[in-house]
Amino acid sequence: MPAGFQQLGAETVTGTLALSVFTAVLGSLEFGYNIGVINAPQKIIEADYNATWIHRYGEHIPAATLTSLWSISVAIFSIGGMLSSFCVGFVSEWLGRRKAMLINNLFAFIGGSLMGLSKLCRSFEMMILGRFIIGAFCGLSSGLTPMYVGEIAPTSLRGALGTLHQLAIVTGILLAQILGLESLLGSAELWPVLLGLTVVPTVLQMTLLPFCPESPRFLYIVRCQEHHAKSGLRRLTGRQEVGDMLAEMKEEKRRMDMERKVSILELFRSPLYRQPMVIAIMLQLSQQLSGVNAIFYYSTSIFITAGVQSPVYATIGAGVVNCAFTVVSLFLVERMGRRTLHMLGLSGMCVCAIVMTVALALLESVPWMSYICMLAIFGFVAFFEVGPGPIPWFFVAELFSQGPRPAAMAVAGCSNWTANFIIGMGFPYVANAAGAYVFLIFAALLLFFLIFTFFRVPETRGKTFDQIASNFHSSTRRVSLDIGLDMDMDTDGEIEKDSTELD
Ligand code: GLC
Repeated sequence: MPAGFQQLGAETVTGTLALSVFTAVLGSLEFGYNIGVINAPQKIIEADYNATWIHRYGEHIPAATLTSLWSISVAIFSIGGMLSSFCVGFVSEWLGRRKAMLINNLFAFIGGSLMGLSKLCRSFEMMILGRFIIGAFCGLSSGLTPMYVGEIAPTSLRGALGTLHQLAIVTGILLAQILGLESLLGSAELWPVLLGLTVVPTVLQMTLLPFCPESPRFLYIVRCQEHHAKSGLRRLTGRQEVGDMLAEMKEEKRRMDMERKVSILELFRSPLYRQPMVIAIMLQLSQQLSGVNAIFYYSTSIFITAGVQSPVYATIGAGVVNCAFTVVSLFLVERMGRRTLHMLGLSGMCVCAIVMTVALALLESVPWMSYICMLAIFGFVAFFEVGPGPIPWFFVAELFSQGPRPAAMAVAGCSNWTANFIIGMGFPYVANAAGAYVFLIFAALLLFFLIFTFFRVPETRGKTFDQIASNFHSSTRRVSLDIGLDMDMDTDGEIEKDSTELD
């Protein structure tokens, strides 16, 4: 084995593969950072909005105006993400995966700079615009990163490397939670640095991307550049002989050439894609409607309600649990499979949500219930990261072959961001109305997604993109021949195996 190469499972992780994945997930780190960064310094930034208002109009900002300005500052991030994630397909085909990531950094740079300079310029408009633009960066990044990583990863490591996207997101969230402490950067003077810091990974990614190869699958299957694809494959695998991989791509290309180009509309119209598309959307919804962001956006106030002594540190505790269990998933995902882990995560979260509700309801009469409540929240987050956190992101890339993949990623990403926006905006109102019982709604949703996963979601571990896609194709054919027989899944939910399958 050449020096500097490491053996992981059956596959070699070359320096180039490691560098490319690391560089790509810097975008995910920024995504997480911007999710987490706005929570802690809320009061301090609001005070600055007020100071600006006084400077402009000579009076205090009306309370309702301040609330609206703050809600807009928070929520416009998801709107940016919603809009841009819808363009993932088009951008990634037009520019290629690598150049799209490179150019996307301009958004991060502009967004980060606007937020970082908004205090100096006494402009909350700059802050709001900055949040919108950084949201747009994150929306593109949330599609481009899993797509690129999924395409350059060897089949047996696709899940593990795909989980690194989520690991980088959660690391970003934790970093933002820690740096946002008042004793660090979450102070009246330093909050612009806290928000502007997002340009650091941007610069790093821009510097490193030119050293990473473009996705060979994209080069070969979409651009028909066999020579470049081959040299990319050689760099990524460290092998001179890449004929077997090229043959697999050739087969995928042959099938793709027989199909027309797939538009977003066709994803829903064609019976060939409808089923994987429904699965992709449902998985994204299961991630967001699980309620995890109710915790990440509003953890401090939830901990206060639960009677926890130091809510800020409890929030950081949740961030640590979040990171730790993503690592657990990283090691389990190629062993236990996506489907099992996703179901394990959903059921664990469902149980924790029920425990949390009971603990909150009993809090007044039994004071130590606050500990149970905190444990339930930690458990909720831990189970989330076992499956529903990382899996939906890379699973979409796995469900589709090269042709429909970009359009599918766009639709899935946009569903994720829309659900994220709904939870972010709606949770405080629902929590006010439902009180201690708010998490029961999530428990019911989690149960629904668990049942859906059991009956509908196939296992994709160890299968090539082509095998996964052709399994859907053959089941669709069989379903259309045999109406009444709903998909060819066996009792484990595995799509029926072809004789060509590896496992
Ligand atoms: C996932 C979700 C994101 C959430 C995070 C929490 O990446 O997409 O919305 O905040 O997990 O770890």
